[in-house]
Amino acid sequence: MSAGCGITPMYSMSRYLTDSQMDADIAFVHSARSEADIIFKSSLATMAQRHSRFKLRYMLESITTETLWHGDEVLHDIGRLSAKSLLDLVPDFAERTVFLCGPEPYMQAVKRLLGELNFDMAQLHHESFATAVKEAQHRVKQAEIQAIEPANSSSSFMLSIGDRKRALTPEQSLLEGIEAEGLPIIAACRSGVCGACKCQVLEGETESSSTMTLTPAEIEAGFVLACSTKLKSDITLSL
Ligand code: FES
Repeated sequence: MSAGCGITPMYSMSRYLTDSQMDADIAFVHSARSEADIIFKSSLATMAQRHSRFKLRYMLESITTETLWHGDEVLHDIGRLSAKSLLDLVPDFAERTVFLCGPEPYMQAVKRLLGELNFDMAQLHHESFATAVKEAQHRVKQAEIQAIEPANSSSSFMLSIGDRKRALTPEQSLLEGIEAEGLPIIAACRSGVCGACKCQVLEGETESSSTMTLTPAEIEAGFVLACSTKLKSDITLSL
């Protein structure tokens, strides 16, 4: 269950499960203002067509087209998520494990709703996107401070991207270095789940806590997830 940018980790988890042929039974319930606000819409529709056990369900505040979706793979309801709409979209939701991600008000509303429906909260896993963003902003701030006071060269490694260079401590992620340099990179989940921050290490040694969205061939070619990778030597990176 997701809303807004909270769709990102849900999309990655679902893609991983469907790509790895685990035959997982997934009901993907995403809330959005309108069809135009749905991120990954066409990829999700493709997943629903290819995998019969991946059920795509949208809760839209308004609908702008009469020919939105057809067939059993993709269902939608109009309005805000309610007990009735949840039961219509996923009749067996009480038997499922729920993964929840989205803006804080949405998360609170869903938790209230699940409570009212006597859902077993031990089966609920949640991640606040707002918290992740706040933590990321804090990390960028720290990186900016270190830009003014460069890390001690004896306890740092050099990150080189083109003609840009930045000293990073072994505790800092590649993503922190890239953002502190003001270089363009997309980072959505900031926790190694969505795959948005993929980049390639051309030289040097790194350590990654997540390679979840990378294929073996990409790992072999030096691709890493910047948010989940730290330096173990001076490195050269390609964005
Ligand atoms: S930002 Fe999602 S994997 Fe790095």
